[in-house]
Amino acid sequence: MILVLNGPNLRRLGTREPEVYGSTTFADLADLVQRTAADLGVTAEVRQTDDEAELVGWIHEAADSRADVILNPAAFTHYSYSLRDACAQLPGRLIEVHLSNPAAREEFRHHSVISGVADGTIAGFGTGSYVLALQALARP
Ligand code: DQA
Repeated sequence: MILVLNGPNLRRLGTREPEVYGSTTFADLADLVQRTAADLGVTAEVRQTDDEAELVGWIHEAADSRADVILNPAAFTHYSYSLRDACAQLPGRLIEVHLSNPAAREEFRHHSVISGVADGTIAGFGTGSYVLALQALARP
């Protein structure tokens, strides 16, 4: 089971700054993840929260169940040390994903506090970032 966790504002995909994030809705993203997971022969569960404490709790759950995680931390990427400390406890693999390429955007997005505890980061391919992350995790 791969947990696909999404941070604040990502439920508003489709209406949120479509020039940056595209017109795909969060429901479309969740569908894409499920279809891709099925094609790859793995199972995935997609969740989203605007709440840092809830997201930290989900990472603890993944740590306890030894699940692999695909995480779009959204704005938490840039400042949440509590999320980073939770991610550091994961025994499974962690892939950080972003729809946009934060390195090509505003200065405050250039630093990720999560990258240092992730196995890898995939950014800039829209919802394709999630597909690439699933492919990476599905590889033996
Ligand atoms: C994001 C990039 C972050 O900088 C931003 O705060 C988001 C979305 C992305 O997927 O491109 O909310 O994580």
